[in-house]
Amino acid sequence: MHNGSSLLEFTQAECTRLGFDDDLAGVIADISSACAAISKLVRHGKLAGNFAAERGTNIQDEAQKELDFLANDILIDHADRGGHLIAVASEEMEESLAFSPHKADEKARGNYLLVFDPLDGSSNIEVNGPVGTIFSVLRAPNGARGLDAEFLQPGTNQLCAGYVLYGTSTEMVVTFGKGIAVFTLDSDDDLFKATDHRLIIDDDTSEYGINASNQRFWEAPVQRYISEILAGKDGPRGRDFNMRWAGAMVADVHRVLSRGGLFTYPIDEKIRAKGGRLRLMYEANPMSMIMEQAGGLASTGYGRIMEIMPSDLHQRVPVILGAKNEVQRLIDYHSAT
Ligand code: F6P
Repeated sequence: MHNGSSLLEFTQAECTRLGFDDDLAGVIADISSACAAISKLVRHGKLAGNFAAERGTNIQDEAQKELDFLANDILIDHADRGGHLIAVASEEMEESLAFSPHKADEKARGNYLLVFDPLDGSSNIEVNGPVGTIFSVLRAPNGARGLDAEFLQPGTNQLCAGYVLYGTSTEMVVTFGKGIAVFTLDSDDDLFKATDHRLIIDDDTSEYGINASNQRFWEAPVQRYISEILAGKDGPRGRDFNMRWAGAMVADVHRVLSRGGLFTYPIDEKIRAKGGRLRLMYEANPMSMIMEQAGGLASTGYGRIMEIMPSDLHQRVPVILGAKNEVQRLIDYHSAT
C-alpha cells in the first residue's frame, strides 16, 4: 500500500530537515527518473533486444552486458541534464566523467559527486533474475573538477546512498544518514511512492547468504563461522540456519533488510590479490550506510567498511553485513585468529 509521500516529497523534506541544498534533492530526482527508465527497459526484457549480449570487459576484466551499457548511459544522461552534479563515476567506466560547466547564463552545477553501479548482478539478466542499481552521493571538494581523486572519500562522507531493486516490483531504498526509507515505483506515473517496509534489521537471525562454492578458499574465521552454522541444532549454535544467495548484491541485501540475515562476500585465497569481490565505492559503501542506518553492521571482518580510505575508484573489499549480533560474531572470529 502506498502510504502517503512520494520519493520527491520525502527527499525535499529530508534536505530541508538536514540542511542540504536543493541540488542534493535534484540529484535524487535525477537518479529516480533514470531508474524508472532503466526499470522500463528491464521490464521489456527480450522484447527490447538481447540485454545479455556481451559487449566487452570492464576495467576489472568482467564481462559487460548490453544492459550494463544501456543503464550506464541512462544514468549519465539524466545526471548530466539535471545539472546537480560536477561529475559521476561508474563501475562501467575506468575513470570518472566530469560534466562540462553550464554556460554563463545558466545556474552553476551542484557541488556533488555521484558514484554508481548501474546494473548490479548482470549475470542474472540471462536467467530473468533480479538486478539492481546502487548509488552513493558525495560532496565535491571546493573547486572540484571531477577528477578521480576527488571521489576518493571514505564511506562516512556519503551524504546519501541507496539502491533500486528491479525484482517482482521496482523498489528504492534510500538513506540520508538518518534512518532508511523505502519506495515502490508506480509504473502508471513513473514515480517512486513510499510503501510499508521494515526499517530496522533484527539483531539476531538464522539466515545467511554466501557463495559456498568458494568454501575451500575461505580464511579460517569464515570456515569456522559457516561450519558451526551448518552443524545446525546439534552444533555449537544450537539451531538450524537457512541459506539464500540471489547472486546480485542488491537482491541479497534487500532480503536481509526485508527479513533479517547476514550477507557476506569474504576475502578468500582466489580473490586475495584483488582485495575482495565487491567494490568499495559503489557497492560496499552505499550498502554499509543503509545497513548501519537500519541498525545492522557492515565490516570487512577486520574493520568498519565505511572507514576505509579508498585508494582507487574500483577498489574491492571483503564484505560482511546485516544482523548486528551475527556480523559481530564473525568479526570476533576474525579477531580471535
Ligand atoms: O557486482 C558483483 C556481484 O554481481 C554482486 O552483485 C554479487 O553479490 C556477486 O557479484 C556475486 O558473485 P558470484 O558470482 O561469485 O556469486
